[in-house]
Amino acid sequence: MNQLLSPYQLNSIRLKNRVVMPPMCMYKANEDGQLRDFHFCHYGARAIGGVGLIITEATAIEARGRISDNDLGLWDDTQIEGHQKLNNLLHSFGSKTAIQLAHAGRKSLCKASSPVAPSALLFSETGGFKVPHALHVSEIESIKEAFITAAQRAQKAGYDALELHAAHGYLLYEFLSPLTNQRNDLYGGSLKNRCALVIEICYAIIQTTQMPLIVRLSADEWIEGGWTINDSIYLSAELQKIGVSMMHISAGGNHEKQPLMPALTSLYQTEYARAIKKAIGIPTIAVGLITTTQEAKMLLEEEVCDLIALGRELLRNPNWVQFAIKEIGERALLETSYARAF
Ligand SMILES: Cc1cc2nc3c(=O)[nH]c(=O)nc-3n(C[C@H](O)[C@H](O)[C@H](O)COP(=O)(O)O)c2cc1C
Repeated sequence: MNQLLSPYQLNSIRLKNRVVMPPMCMYKANEDGQLRDFHFCHYGARAIGGVGLIITEATAIEARGRISDNDLGLWDDTQIEGHQKLNNLLHSFGSKTAIQLAHAGRKSLCKASSPVAPSALLFSETGGFKVPHALHVSEIESIKEAFITAAQRAQKAGYDALELHAAHGYLLYEFLSPLTNQRNDLYGGSLKNRCALVIEICYAIIQTTQMPLIVRLSADEWIEGGWTINDSIYLSAELQKIGVSMMHISAGGNHEKQPLMPALTSLYQTEYARAIKKAIGIPTIAVGLITTTQEAKMLLEEEVCDLIALGRELLRNPNWVQFAIKEIGERALLETSYARAF
C-alpha cells in the first residue's frame, strides 16, 4: 500500500494513515473555554473524512494564556467532559487524537487579563497587544505546573497523544528566542538556559502521563540574530533524549516583521523538517502549504518527514483523504457511505 495511506505507529498508538490535521484555532469557544457544537461538527467532519491524527487547536493551560477570549481551555476540571465527548466521537470514526497545550504569552489579546512573557517586550504597537509582565521564577514554576495539570486533564479526557505548543511566538517560543528572552537568570542567556523551560515541561509531562508527546516548534524565526535551524536541531536532540516522540516543524510568528521570511510557496518550510530528521533521526511532521497527494507522497518517499499535516487544505476540504484514496487507487479504504461519490 502507498506510504501515505499506510498505518504509522506513534509509540503505542496506531494511526491508520499518515495524514494529520494540525492545530488550528477556531475562536469559537465561549468565554469559559468550553467546546461548543461547532467543535464537534468541525472535528467530526475531518474524522469522517479519514484523517489519521487530529490535533485539536491551541488549548489554553491557564485563562490568561489564551490568544483570545474564545479559545478552548483545559485550565479547569469542568472542561474535561467536553473533550471526553469529542474524543469518543473522533475515535468512533477511526481517527486518533492529540491536543495542543498552549500558552499565548505576550501575544494574548484577552480583554480581562494582562499578558506574561519572559521579558517585558511588546509584540506590536498595533492590534491591541499589551506590554507583558516579565515572569518571576516562582510564576514560571506555576505555569509549568499548569502545563502538567492540563496534560493530566487531557489524559483523563481520552486523548491519544499530546502536543506542546513551542512555536509561533507564543510563551514557550518567547523563552527560546534570544530576541524575546532577555533574562539573566537560569531561564535566560545561553541557548541551554533558554531551552530549559521547554525541556523541563516536556520531561515532567512524559514522566507524569507516559503519553506520546509531540513538540511543535518554529524552526527559524526569520530575523537576524534570532532562533535558527541549528538551535532547533540542538533542542530537538535534547527533547529526543528525554523521550519526546516527534517534532512538528513550523516556522516564524515571533515578530511582527520577519525580514528573512521566504516566499510562501508550496512546501515553503518542509526543508526544516528534513534537516531535523536527517540530523538526529527524530520522527517529524511537516506542515506548510502541502496541498496535493503528489506532494504528500514525495515528502514521505524522500524521508523529509513521517507524517503530513494539511491545515488550510483540510479547512477547505474535509474529504481530502478520500480524494487521495481515489487518486492512489485504494478504493477499499474509502468511507463506505461516500464511496459512490468517488
Ligand atoms: C485558522 C488557523 C488557525 C491556526 N491555529 C493554530 C494553532 O492553534 N496552533 C498552531 O500551532 N498553529 C496554528 N495555525 C497554523 C497551522 O497549524 C499550520 O501550521 C499553517 O496553517 C500552515 O499550514 P497550511 O499551509 O497547511 O495551512 C493556524 C492556522 C490557521 C489557518
